[in-house]
Amino acid sequence: MHCIKKITDDLIWVGANDRRLAMFEGVYSVPDGVSYNSYLLLDDETVLFDTVDKAVRHRFMENIAETLGDKKLDYLVIQHMEPDHSAAVQDLTLKYPDMKIVCNAKIADFIRQFYNLDIDSRIIIVKENDTINTGRHTLHFVMAPMVHWPEVMVTYDSADKILFSADAFGSFGALNGAIFADEVDFARDYMDEARRYYTNIVGKYCAQVQSLLNKASALDIGMICPLHGFVWRANINDILEKYMLWSSYEPEEYGVMLAYASVYGNTENAAEILASRLRERGVKTVMFDVSVKPASEIVSASFRWSHLVFASTTYNAGIFVTMEALLHDLAAHNIQNRTVALIENGSWAATSGGLMRGILEKCKNIKFIENNLSIKSSLKLSQLAAIDAMAYEIASTVPAASVYAAADSAAPPADIDKSAMYKLSYGLFVLTAREAGKDNGCIINTASQISSSPTTISVTVSKSNYTCGMIVNTGEFNISVLSESAPFRIFEQFGFVSGRDEDKFAGAKYQSRASNGVRYIPEYTNCVISAKVRQSVDCGTHILFVAEVTQAFILSGEPSVTYQYYFEHIKPKPQPRKEKVKGFVCKICGYVYESDTLPDDYICPLCKHGAGDFEPA
Ligand code: FEO
Repeated sequence: MHCIKKITDDLIWVGANDRRLAMFEGVYSVPDGVSYNSYLLLDDETVLFDTVDKAVRHRFMENIAETLGDKKLDYLVIQHMEPDHSAAVQDLTLKYPDMKIVCNAKIADFIRQFYNLDIDSRIIIVKENDTINTGRHTLHFVMAPMVHWPEVMVTYDSADKILFSADAFGSFGALNGAIFADEVDFARDYMDEARRYYTNIVGKYCAQVQSLLNKASALDIGMICPLHGFVWRANINDILEKYMLWSSYEPEEYGVMLAYASVYGNTENAAEILASRLRERGVKTVMFDVSVKPASEIVSASFRWSHLVFASTTYNAGIFVTMEALLHDLAAHNIQNRTVALIENGSWAATSGGLMRGILEKCKNIKFIENNLSIKSSLKLSQLAAIDAMAYEIASTVPAASVYAAADSAAPPADIDKSAMYKLSYGLFVLTAREAGKDNGCIINTASQISSSPTTISVTVSKSNYTCGMIVNTGEFNISVLSESAPFRIFEQFGFVSGRDEDKFAGAKYQSRASNGVRYIPEYTNCVISAKVRQSVDCGTHILFVAEVTQAFILSGEPSVTYQYYFEHIKPKPQPRKEKVKGFVCKICGYVYESDTLPDDYICPLCKHGAGDFEPA
């Protein structure tokens, strides 16, 4: 039995729906089915626009017969030769022997390629801006190569201002009784499927879509009739604006799409914690397990959101299979203009992070955040700060207007582990700061807790240290409490050179930052304390900073290094000199100042201690 829909007084939808198809084109799941649209114009001469897929050919032929009645079919306009729209061409030539086929030269070639059909006697080849008059209507043909195949053209009916748009402006999903987009809540119920259709079917060819949109902007369009999905007769700008956005590869919304590949749940765990921390900062998030969510949905979401996080376990020395397929799919669809963060996992040789980056680096204008994360088997307590740093960096690149209001009312993360205060001793610490994008750190030996509510500490640092000035200017710092396992090279790295002369973090294998964005030292340390300066006291050679703790976390249970332990077990013993040197030796680092006298204001060039710490050599 026929099933047709009236579009205008003389234009009838004669297409059909398929709700049994599992995979469109063998690759895109269509849980809500798909429609194959075809339109029959009943002018003085009759015109059929495209045909349908072979699955619904029978219903389609019934629809045409019913609509034509005793009229003959004069023209079949073929705009797109993909078989989901051309499977009934042969049937039509048999049933309507006088029917002419109107198409461009490329389409004619494709007809010959796909079907054993003698079309020479019935073909009418058209080019850009050619027209056919059928009575009241004049049809204008506009070439639209690569939207979605190279032969595609669209047709504009200047009488009723209708654009027959081929695949453009289409959507997945069968038509459930309604035919016009304004009959349903399209934004709520169908926009996701329109985006998924666009991004997966023509997302690779955005430049060509923009070219078609340019041509369309010169037309007065009152209705759009695509080959899939709803007909647009109202609010046409809604879909045109979406196409402008999608085809420019600009995100629709600021927020984070997290996709993860996890074998035993540990990579998933890291991604979930990150998502949770982002939400605490008011950033919108969506999450997908790439092993269960169809890739087409993740590709679509990647076009929607501004920030993308990919988390993958390492598998067979590479990226997990489903994640690798997804990333290649995204690259093939020309994803660009996104901020990307990566989480890799590997139990013995993590490679997935670098390999994921390698795929995405080939895409245009991808900005990778600094704070990526590498996990060994499972996330550790000591890495929560790294997750915080990722969340901080991502959130700091989301415009404030897009951070939703919940962030203001959300409780601040309970990030102060007060047991970190027990790690403070008369020991040695790496004091780190960050100013104007530059990181630096130095060794200090004075850090102590001075109140518990609010948790407040004090640190003292020599004015001659570059880090001191950075803290004066920024008011923020971290202390990494060194443990007994710290090798002497850590003291050389942070204590024996100046940050004015060299980058103390150059070549560091770690990139760890606390929530305040300041680096910390994740190895040979047992805890990290971040603090905000509330007061500073000028103590002559040093400044004492009184600071409120903003974050504190434990890294290990190893004992803190004390000053005494350092001298007895870490600091190399001074080697006996063959010749007696005249001068003064620093009791802290062993530096020798060769002179008869030692100036009172002398500062050791290595460890920055004053003249009081020198003794005759
Ligand atoms: Fe619906 Fe490109 O075919």
